[in-house]
Amino acid sequence: MNTFKNSVVYQIYPKSFLDTNGDGLGDLRGVIEKLDYLQTLGVDYIWLTPFFVSPQNDNGYDVADYRAIDPRYGTMEDFEELVAQARTRNIKIMLDMVFNHTSTSHVWFQKALAGDPVYRDYYIFRPGKPQGGPPTNWESKFGRNAWEYVPQLDQYYLHLFDKTQADLHWENPAVRREVQDIVRFWMEKGVKGFRFDVVNLISKGEYADDTQGDGRRFYTDGPRIHEFLMELNRESFGKDPEIITVGEMSSTSMENCFRYAGADGQELSMVFSFHHLKVDFVGNEKWVLVPADFGKLKEILFSWQEGMAAHGAWNAVFWCNHDQPRVVSRFGDEGEYWKQSAKMLANVIHAMRGTPYIYQGEELGMTNAGFTSLDQYRDVESLNHYRILRDKGMSRESVYNILKVHSRDNSRTPMQWTGEEQGGFTTGQPWISVNPNTRTINAESQVGDPDSIFAHYQALIRLRKEYPVFAQGDFRALSQEDPQVLAYQRRWENTSLICLSNFYRKETTWQAPLDLTGYRVLLSNYPDSLPAQSWKLRPYESVLLIKE
Ligand code: GLC
Ligand code: CA
Repeated sequence: MNTFKNSVVYQIYPKSFLDTNGDGLGDLRGVIEKLDYLQTLGVDYIWLTPFFVSPQNDNGYDVADYRAIDPRYGTMEDFEELVAQARTRNIKIMLDMVFNHTSTSHVWFQKALAGDPVYRDYYIFRPGKPQGGPPTNWESKFGRNAWEYVPQLDQYYLHLFDKTQADLHWENPAVRREVQDIVRFWMEKGVKGFRFDVVNLISKGEYADDTQGDGRRFYTDGPRIHEFLMELNRESFGKDPEIITVGEMSSTSMENCFRYAGADGQELSMVFSFHHLKVDFVGNEKWVLVPADFGKLKEILFSWQEGMAAHGAWNAVFWCNHDQPRVVSRFGDEGEYWKQSAKMLANVIHAMRGTPYIYQGEELGMTNAGFTSLDQYRDVESLNHYRILRDKGMSRESVYNILKVHSRDNSRTPMQWTGEEQGGFTTGQPWISVNPNTRTINAESQVGDPDSIFAHYQALIRLRKEYPVFAQGDFRALSQEDPQVLAYQRRWENTSLICLSNFYRKETTWQAPLDLTGYRVLLSNYPDSLPAQSWKLRPYESVLLIKE
């Protein structure tokens, strides 16, 4: 049986996937063209980031019409064909629903601006402080104050993201009904999965100044969040048991995730949390350069694995998406051990308890963008923070070095299909530069090569289907204190699976904390890994061991 537990989801950022008409922007027909590739990889779902009508200030996360396809991406007929063609390959479609906010170009917001009180109540308008200035000191996730002043209304509206992304007022039942209606619209088109964008931010608490932080404690996992999610489930996707859902949970707490992704299925199937991807931040501050803290990474991954399992709740497990730098650049090695480290990172995720997500190009070991000049950046968050850091007095050079590491554009460069100049992505000028390393890192050279990173991902997906321990097993951390090995065990009935990885380039010796008699190698990133109680691990060596 295929459930969300033994499924693998592949994320497509359509704008950067494949352009079929030479305008430099990926499109839905591009996704149709590559369905065979995705079937060869073996994935069960494809999650498409938003392709709805949008001014594209935040690459489609600023939706102006939830029921229409932006002509730059194609037509409704293209979408219907995509659903049908995917189905014949046993691939289901997951859509990305952005309901925390709409674009300010959305007709609701436009009516609100024009003074219509019905639509004004779709958003969060508040007067400024009596002494002047915005209602609260909350900061937008993209930098600066989160309130924008509208002179003709003499009010501010809340935008937790860009100022063209106005937060919806979920306390208003009419807003919730609109949202349910949109989900049902896409269900009728045969969509079988939904990802809900920053959905744990929809219930705002008190609108007060935050004297301890940027405001997030007031609106993260807010007072009515569980009620809102249960209602959305009941009124829309919950009616179709085949549908799977994932909530993107910004700065969430594990206790809330027990409920968001609980076994009772009242809210969502699973959650994305991001704590493990802040180990190269300072607190919540991402615009800094500090080495990744491996001890912390392990601690976070393990505590979420154990905690969620103990509560019967389900994780989405991942390293990459369109908001994160490429993992091989971040925690692996772009050089000599590129291949081994990419495979090691894949093992760590795919053998964990949860549904694995692969972000386009990850299965090829694509690296960070490697931009050489500032004008190559496109992302609103990066551009905003460039200004903010410069205004704080940081040198051009320093800001540039930070962007190189942390910018979201690192993962948004076009998919590398071939070794040609534009990577086979477009025949025109790509909207964002193709990484020149497409000469050596590309799909054409990897598909069919049994030693490729692509083949390794294929194997991991296949193993999940063959061995129920991947989807069903419990989770036990091993060698928790080891400063360079990441190891854990999964057990189900009489099967035991061990995932063991040297996370670094330096060799190390691992003392197995359990008896390895009877275990055999299921998958490794070296051709000749040999289990031993005192095991010398080579650079980035990573092995899945099984005993049945
Ligand atoms: C999510 C998306 C991100 C977007 C933000 C605002 O974090 O993944 O790309 O900018 O929400 O919608
Ligand atoms: Ca195109």
